[in-house]
Amino acid sequence: MRAVTYHQYGGPEVLSVEDVPTPTCGDDQLLIRVQAAEACKSDCEMRSFEYAVKWFMIPLRLALGLRRPRRPILGLYFSGIVEQTGADVEGFSPGDAVYGSTGMRRGAYGEYVALPAKAVIAAKPATMTHAEAAAVPLGGINAQHFLERAEVQPGDSVLVNGAGGVIGAHGVQIARAMGASVTGVDAAHKEDFVRSMGASHFVDYQQRNVTELEERFDVIFDMVPDTDVSAMLDLLTPGGRYANGNPRLTTLLRAPLSRFADHKIIVAFADESRAALKQLAASIEAGEIEPIVDRILPMDSAAEAHQLVDSEERIGAIVLAIGERANER
Ligand SMILES: NC(=O)c1ccc[n+]([C@@H]2O[C@H](COP(=O)([O-])OP(=O)(O)OC[C@H]3O[C@@H](n4cnc5c(N)ncnc54)[C@H](OP(=O)(O)O)[C@@H]3O)[C@@H](O)[C@H]2O)c1
Repeated sequence: MRAVTYHQYGGPEVLSVEDVPTPTCGDDQLLIRVQAAEACKSDCEMRSFEYAVKWFMIPLRLALGLRRPRRPILGLYFSGIVEQTGADVEGFSPGDAVYGSTGMRRGAYGEYVALPAKAVIAAKPATMTHAEAAAVPLGGINAQHFLERAEVQPGDSVLVNGAGGVIGAHGVQIARAMGASVTGVDAAHKEDFVRSMGASHFVDYQQRNVTELEERFDVIFDMVPDTDVSAMLDLLTPGGRYANGNPRLTTLLRAPLSRFADHKIIVAFADESRAALKQLAASIEAGEIEPIVDRILPMDSAAEAHQLVDSEERIGAIVLAIGERANER
């Protein structure tokens, strides 16, 4: 099969397309014909090994490969069609359209990926194309997780910092669907996009320091790695909740102490689950979550796709079309 591979850490140019062996389907596995994979920030970070938040770099380097990447095929989030099911698999059949996460196995940048049937895989939302669905799991699962942990209530005011990003844009939509009024913070050229996701207010972070806002918020969902957390906490109403999806070590250490304070700090990472994917698919089919795809590029343009993500020249998600049916529902 063809796959986008990398054999050394570095810039987008380390990516190339190669012929590699097609994975075999074990008894407890699904072989999935990948149709589309998100070229997400996490893929780019694993490629370059450059992280804004540094505390997990040592364990991650051990996991990914000390001198060079141990697994040459990137790709965390995908949508595709079940090609084959192992002898022990129940609940999936060849031909099923599915979407999900490969987890740390990666491999969604190849034409086929073999995953355990118990992996984070669910029926693709029927109203989305494969390319649109591939852009959901990362942003959707993380945003849903943090906003649920923050116990957003109807009528709450929610600030999403980094609202034009893949996780932030899902956060705006999910907070809105939970009945909140949403203020999105991002760069000016993303204002229309963030408002189209459901934000009723927008702050351009390059013009205005968000910590100087006069408004107060019941919930802040922060995806920006270098925020001044103390100043963000001052923006909360009494009893407010601050969820940080990209925490520095100091924020991680500080979170447990917040149980004694007037506000709650939430930093626990999302536990990717099939239940979360199913819930997202239901929200999508109910019209609560819209696609956030900026561009769909062929797998031969994987380096260009990563370049667009690295340089943030995107409004929404960049998706790689891996199969011929990427644009089909
Ligand atoms: N917690 C988790 O479980 C988890 C999971 C996956 C990923 N992450 C991490 O979370 C980060 C964000 O993920 P993502 O995919 O949503 O990234 P993303 O799509 O790049 O979104 C980040 C957004 O924040 C904006 N931004 C940058 N600086 C800002 C500032 N000072 N104030 C307001 N907005 C600002 C960026 O705009 P510009 O164009 O101006 O830069 C961009 O629109 C990544 O570093 C990723 O590794 C966390």
